[in-house]
Amino acid sequence: MYITRNLVTLNIYPANLFKPSPIQKNMKTTFSLIKADIGGWPGHSSVHPSLITLAAEGLKEATQKGLIKDFHVAHCGDDLELLMTHQKGEDNKEIHGLAWDIFTQGTKEAKKLGLYGAGQDLLKDAFSGNIRGMGPGVAEMEFTERKAEPIVAFMMDKTEPGAFNLPIFRMFADPFNTAGLVIDPSFHTGFLFEIWDIRDHKRVILESPQELYDILALIGAKSRFVIKRVYPKEDNPKLSKGEPAAVVSSEKLYQIAGEYVGKDDPVALVRAQSGLPALGEVLEAFAFPYLVSGWMRGSHNGPLMPVSQKNARCTRFDGPPRVLALGFQLHNARLTEPSDLFDDPAFDEVRHQAQLITDYMRRHGPFEPHRLPMEEMEYTTLPAIMKSLGNRFKPIK
Ligand code: F6R
Ligand code: MG
Ligand code: MG
Repeated sequence: MYITRNLVTLNIYPANLFKPSPIQKNMKTTFSLIKADIGGWPGHSSVHPSLITLAAEGLKEATQKGLIKDFHVAHCGDDLELLMTHQKGEDNKEIHGLAWDIFTQGTKEAKKLGLYGAGQDLLKDAFSGNIRGMGPGVAEMEFTERKAEPIVAFMMDKTEPGAFNLPIFRMFADPFNTAGLVIDPSFHTGFLFEIWDIRDHKRVILESPQELYDILALIGAKSRFVIKRVYPKEDNPKLSKGEPAAVVSSEKLYQIAGEYVGKDDPVALVRAQSGLPALGEVLEAFAFPYLVSGWMRGSHNGPLMPVSQKNARCTRFDGPPRVLALGFQLHNARLTEPSDLFDDPAFDEVRHQAQLITDYMRRHGPFEPHRLPMEEMEYTTLPAIMKSLGNRFKPIK
């Protein structure tokens, strides 16, 4: 059945199974991408097909009830990804509650099947109105649809939210990536970057290109500063004012839980074309297998490999970290079927380079910079070793 298909999740419930319902003119659309690791199959590598079916059935029912307009279910590595469109805005209690219910039902199923780490990302017992801070990751944005609205959902496994800093910067601020910054009059004045300090829980909005070096000074330190949203500027003639062009999830599970309970594998939504970077400029940002932190035990640097849905499984040394891109046209809050954008020979060479970098990094074994610096490792035996060595450590004269 679907296990043998290339696009495991893509063929079960086509996104346009239900007829469009009339939509109020000028009503805004919300795209919510909510994800959680509720059990791996096997180990931390992938999601069991039963969980995908369960999630798709739950979202189909919600569509029939009119709670959401459309949906797609995917997975990246061991993360179950719920892609939903609706008209209830961001942080909506019913939408977040729907995702929470699916994750808790899925956890029951995961326990029944004996999946690995069942319910790993669900940190609270009861839903209290908003899924943020409860374990799952959320990328959500509300906006006025343009006449034609291309949107890409990016999903990563075995890495952290700061892994999006480099490609999002490239898309929206780097003229060597995005030709439109130089030659498209509609966004020649650049974009606004909302950057979060995830250690001190503060945020700042910086303007590109005027504050380019300040932006880079912050986001180069990707374990602390993350790009949360990108906005078009006021003078962009093709976009509604104040509505985001991109959003990244920024949950840090270990900060929420006070202890490490699993990787905070991130997701992002990026709108494209017509006043924004073209689809090809958005994807071009992934044509370099840059190093991200995560990988084995969330404690190693490794190359980010762009992959198809079929290959969105983490195997070698629990990786290497992967990114999946599903593209849609959005119309009246309804989705076309997804296009599996990295399922393309144009990305073969990037994957090949990622393989070479995987070998190169692995040969460092337990040494930095393959292993993360001490303060960023999510597993460590160092305190125990220091304790057991006790007074065998002598002062250096
Ligand atoms: C990293 C990840 C895996 C696990 C590793 C050990 O995000 O999920 O690399 O950390 O497989 O897992 P446990 O401790 O569950 O055996
Ligand atoms: Mg896992
Ligand atoms: Mg994961």
